[in-house]
Amino acid sequence: VVARAGDILVGDRLIVDVAGRSIGVFNIDGTLYAIRNRCPHQGAELCRGAVLGTVAAPQPGDFRIDHEKPLLSCPWHGWEFDLRTGQSWWDPKKTRVRDYPVDVVADEEAGEEFADERRPGPFVADRYPVTEEDFLIVVDIGGEKDSPMGAG
Ligand code: FES
Repeated sequence: VVARAGDILVGDRLIVDVAGRSIGVFNIDGTLYAIRNRCPHQGAELCRGAVLGTVAAPQPGDFRIDHEKPLLSCPWHGWEFDLRTGQSWWDPKKTRVRDYPVDVVADEEAGEEFADERRPGPFVADRYPVTEEDFLIVVDIGGEKDSPMGAG
């Protein structure tokens, strides 16, 4: 048990220590996510970064922010991690500026297929199942018992 329900309001986060692991618990539009507070890139406190929506731009000047896919941006180098999966979405070692073929297509050929064209990065941040039980927020770290709230 890491908190009482209501301790983490929508849009808030709580960073807790569970069995020696620093874990951030986020309330994004009423959905709870738990992710390790350590960036797999170089060890920054990942959970102190900004939470952003996924930006998609199906055409120039038309961008949309999808809040259904929350990304956590590392405060050190800005790598983004999907709060739902822990997957990183950028790898500067493999990302190069390159040219791309440009084509003009009819409106109906464009559309959503280009809206979410992201490539996964090399890292996945540790995530944990988080639930609300009897007005308590519970993070499951895999069988280890620890109750900082003293509930039992
Ligand atoms: S330490 Fe997180 S992106 Fe570099």
